[in-house]
Amino acid sequence: MSKRIAVYPGSFDPIHNGHLDIIERCRPLFDELLVAVLYNEEKKPLFSVEERVETIRELVDGRGDCRVESFSGLLVDFMDRVGARVVVRGLRAVSDFEYEFQMALMNRRLNPRVETVYMMPKEDYIYLSSRLVKEVHFLGGDVTGLVPDLVLERLRARRRS
Ligand code: PNS
Repeated sequence: MSKRIAVYPGSFDPIHNGHLDIIERCRPLFDELLVAVLYNEEKKPLFSVEERVETIRELVDGRGDCRVESFSGLLVDFMDRVGARVVVRGLRAVSDFEYEFQMALMNRRLNPRVETVYMMPKEDYIYLSSRLVKEVHFLGGDVTGLVPDLVLERLRARRRS
């Protein structure tokens, strides 16, 4: 039987504990989880795609069932290239629903083999987003416990530079 590969796509700018919680929940469900970091320089990310990939690799290191790659272009084309049929997305609040619904149905139209699976993060992270993490951090707020220590260090280094 072929491997069941799931793709967890996102901007991950930066990855936070809600993302990591979803990764942990996926690991027992699929043979392989491919964390796919969108190459989106036009969105002016805080961290380059190389930095984001490297950070996530360090955080999931040593786990053969989880790979990290970047991608550009259509997600469904990337899915075909890596032989995956399942997209995993985290669903936090009702406000996520409309955007996720649109994306899931558009991806299905573009490639009917692709199914999107939604996972709920731990309640502690239900309000968390990368955008809020950056905003709070750069305004001097404390994001300890919301991002892994490695990300906290990299955010602090970015604030100093
Ligand atoms: O973390 P994000 O920014 O909410 O992730 C959005 C992402 C990367 C999943 C989405 O923008 C995406 O898949 N982009 C790739 C381009 C694409 O396939 N667009 C059509 C989606 S319906």
